[in-house]
Amino acid sequence: MSKITVVGAGKYGSTTVQRLAGADLADEVVMIDIVEGLPQGLALDMNQSRSVERYRTKVIGTNDYVDTAGSDVVVITAGLPRKPGMSRMDLLEVNAKIVKDVTEQIATASPDAVLVIVTNPLDHMTTLAAEVSGFAKARVMGQAGNLDTARFTHFIAERTGADILEVEALTLGSHGATMVPIPSQCWVAGKPLTEVLDAQEIEELVERTRNGGAEIVSLLKTGSAYYAPSAAAAKMVRAVLKDSNEQMPVCAWTGGEYGISDVYLGVPAKVGAGGVTAITELDLTDDELMELRAAAAAVQEKVEELHSLDV
Ligand code: LAC
Repeated sequence: MSKITVVGAGKYGSTTVQRLAGADLADEVVMIDIVEGLPQGLALDMNQSRSVERYRTKVIGTNDYVDTAGSDVVVITAGLPRKPGMSRMDLLEVNAKIVKDVTEQIATASPDAVLVIVTNPLDHMTTLAAEVSGFAKARVMGQAGNLDTARFTHFIAERTGADILEVEALTLGSHGATMVPIPSQCWVAGKPLTEVLDAQEIEELVERTRNGGAEIVSLLKTGSAYYAPSAAAAKMVRAVLKDSNEQMPVCAWTGGEYGISDVYLGVPAKVGAGGVTAITELDLTDDELMELRAAAAAVQEKVEELHSLDV
């Protein structure tokens, strides 16, 4: 019997629950939130869609961590989203308090779970969840790369006119200013992106990808993106529950790969039953490697700031 918990019944959390329940991957998906009635109401509504959508997974809405006990995978979405004009880093202190509190309760209720963190600032909240839970680092990972890659893929398809399903892209690094889109690992209908677009055109798409979240925040006015983010998080949960060892960009604990150690950063990783089962070393260009190392240094610097906060 497999069980998933999603912490936070906001847009990101509830769309993640909907995708996971609809995929019929688990017996139960528990949605927990501090707001009374919200997860219960959403769960009732989702459960009533099951006979139409033809799936059996049951959604449980709750405000009590007891109901999350024994989960195999837990997605932590709890925290505040950005407001227009804010960077993800502006959420560091407020979300650190929330993620710390949630992680303590989750680690007690589900000591064997794999944790997928999506709260921003992503790389730092993943670090914090790993520290607070005391879980093996492989069992704690952050969702950013699947989302940033999905955005880059969309922008490449739009610019080149290619079929979205024939574009392959990759972004690594942080989920923020030091995001590192990797043009050398991007293909359009089997051709290297670098042969399809010139350097200037690629740079424009890279920049739009780096600002991909903020672009949506400024359009929505309240809240941040959730359709692509929840699809990205659900992909990680699927890989864990199916033990697929599928390779994807993941915010993972580094151990010397790309010359980077002891920091959570977006790297290509295989995801399976135990969380991150391996980090893959791709053949990056010197510039990409330099940017990835700079991203690691930037995350590390902010993690020090996080450690100096009283949360
Ligand atoms: C984004 C948020 C969810 O990038 O980080 O849209």
